[in-house]
Amino acid sequence: MLRYLTAGESHGKAEIAILEGCPANLPLKESDLDKDLARRQQGYGRGARMKIEKDKAEILSGVRKGKTIGSPIAIQIPNRSTQFFAKTFSRLRPGHADLAGALKYNQKDVRNILERASARETAAKVAVGAVAKRLLAEFKIKVESRVLVIGGESRSGQWKNLIDYSRKDGDTLGGLFEVVVKGAPAGLGSHVHWDRRLDGQLAAAVMAIPAIKSVEIGLGKEVANLPGSRVHDEIFYSKADGFYRNTNNAGGLEGGMTNGEAVVVRAAMKPIATLKKPLQSVDLATKKVTKALVERSDVCAVEPAAVIGEAVVAIEIANAFLEKFGGDVVEDIQKAYKAYLSRI
Ligand SMILES: Cc1cc2nc3c(=O)[nH]c(=O)nc-3n(C[C@H](O)[C@H](O)[C@H](O)COP(=O)(O)O)c2cc1C
Repeated sequence: MLRYLTAGESHGKAEIAILEGCPANLPLKESDLDKDLARRQQGYGRGARMKIEKDKAEILSGVRKGKTIGSPIAIQIPNRSTQFFAKTFSRLRPGHADLAGALKYNQKDVRNILERASARETAAKVAVGAVAKRLLAEFKIKVESRVLVIGGESRSGQWKNLIDYSRKDGDTLGGLFEVVVKGAPAGLGSHVHWDRRLDGQLAAAVMAIPAIKSVEIGLGKEVANLPGSRVHDEIFYSKADGFYRNTNNAGGLEGGMTNGEAVVVRAAMKPIATLKKPLQSVDLATKKVTKALVERSDVCAVEPAAVIGEAVVAIEIANAFLEKFGGDVVEDIQKAYKAYLSRI
């Protein structure tokens, strides 16, 4: 079983991840992680912070002479931007964890909530996801993503203008992205119990990315509007290709298991909650009307959210893969995988 924890505050010393359950003998370099960390930093509409950060992963354990050794992999990504860490504030920001977090944890300084609720944490997730992707690559399974919509607009040529306009207007934008897994075999996940269903695991992982408000698999909510004859993917068989479909409305998942088609997950991200033209709010200390705190912020972060989507989907797929084919060492998994493929 692959499991991981993250730690770290947004403007603290570093983001940290510990990944447990990665098999031994997987070739792994820090640069495998850095590629995705760099992609997470990109995207039109990012704030000033991304010009300061140059995310680089330091692998502190679990890898020796370029290969995993089966022990927990500890990863550290130092933060460069730490100057806000000492600043206190109480002007609650709508759309953030501020109010609920301050009440729940009895904090007067809302910084104590902001620092951990910040999406900076997703750098650690992306680093873990990069290890999962590296593992899946050994079995020719690829995880990719793309942005589909920004601010209600699906024509990508319009996105820069929309973001520029939004920035000038002191506003923000959200959007929709898609993660696709190619090459996963039929039979990852299980129909036998609710918490073993891979669709549920994927939905939970993607929904837990900050600012994600809906997750869809395949046709998603469109299924509500169509008859069964236009939703379900008919089954075909050929000697050369085995079982196959001509459509993939199910998004590669039936009964909580992969069915051999590409896994397709889409997620909607809400507009960034920190607006340059701040929303009305209340000061936690005085209980008086105030404008929400405005701190350096993105205008739109759908592109990096798609990279984070890739990471968390890769982690869930890799976990399901290890559950099915064993987890100690890459060579044993390869043998089990080969035997399974020849059976099906
Ligand atoms: C990649 C990424 C970057 C983000 N950047 C910002 C930001 O700069 N400013 C902001 O207010 N929210 C940003 N968010 C969103 C907040 O982290 C999120 O809305 C907030 O923590 C509340 O969580 P919730 O929206 O899931 O309820 C970002 C989210 C992601 C995924």
